[in-house]
Amino acid sequence: MNTYKILAISGSLRKASHNTALIHAFKERAPEGVTVEIAEIGNLPLFDQDLEADFPKEAADLKAKIEAANAIIIATPEYNRSTTGALKNAIDWGSRPWGKNSWAKKPVYICGASIGAIGSALAQFHVKQSFSFLNAHVLGQPEFYLGNAQSKFDAEGKLIDEETVAHIDSAFAAFTAFIDQLR
Ligand SMILES: Cc1cc2nc3c(=O)[nH]c(=O)nc-3n(C[C@H](O)[C@H](O)[C@H](O)COP(=O)(O)O)c2cc1C
Repeated sequence: MNTYKILAISGSLRKASHNTALIHAFKERAPEGVTVEIAEIGNLPLFDQDLEADFPKEAADLKAKIEAANAIIIATPEYNRSTTGALKNAIDWGSRPWGKNSWAKKPVYICGASIGAIGSALAQFHVKQSFSFLNAHVLGQPEFYLGNAQSKFDAEGKLIDEETVAHIDSAFAAFTAFIDQLR
């Protein structure tokens, strides 16, 4: 049986984040053979190219986790029709220093949740654009736009929407097949 070590990242730093809750739902629904580790990005310093000479430990730790993973799952909120500064900051740290882009050749699945109707679609578009440039392998289908997210989780952040649960299962099936193809 194939095994898959997946690193999952939420683009939101807030405690009651729907995107972090979505990442936890992915972790809970992980099929046999799949392990999901959730990476923190709130501890990263703001990217400053001057810091590259003495690479911050938090950023080096994130790069080590990316490199040790077989694949990446990202859940992004939509902030002003783009992704969050926190997620872009993590993407930038993972891509540096020049010549040591940790995202390269990683299979990546991008999803997201927002309280709006289009479910973070435009934020995901920007994240996909960065990962495409970074030479990651971004899975195109099934797309995952969780709109009206406030109605999909209970007060404890547990996913209560059966349709979304089924969509997570479909996404895992497609993503593990995609990872297999790339092995
Ligand atoms: C600064 C800011 C900008 C936002 N812009 C958008 C937006 O462009 N589109 C959208 O659907 N929701 C937008 N929202 C609402 C977010 O979808 C909502 O706050 C969501 O819960 C954020 O994700 P989180 O729950 O994972 O923190 C915005 C929220 C903030 C704080």
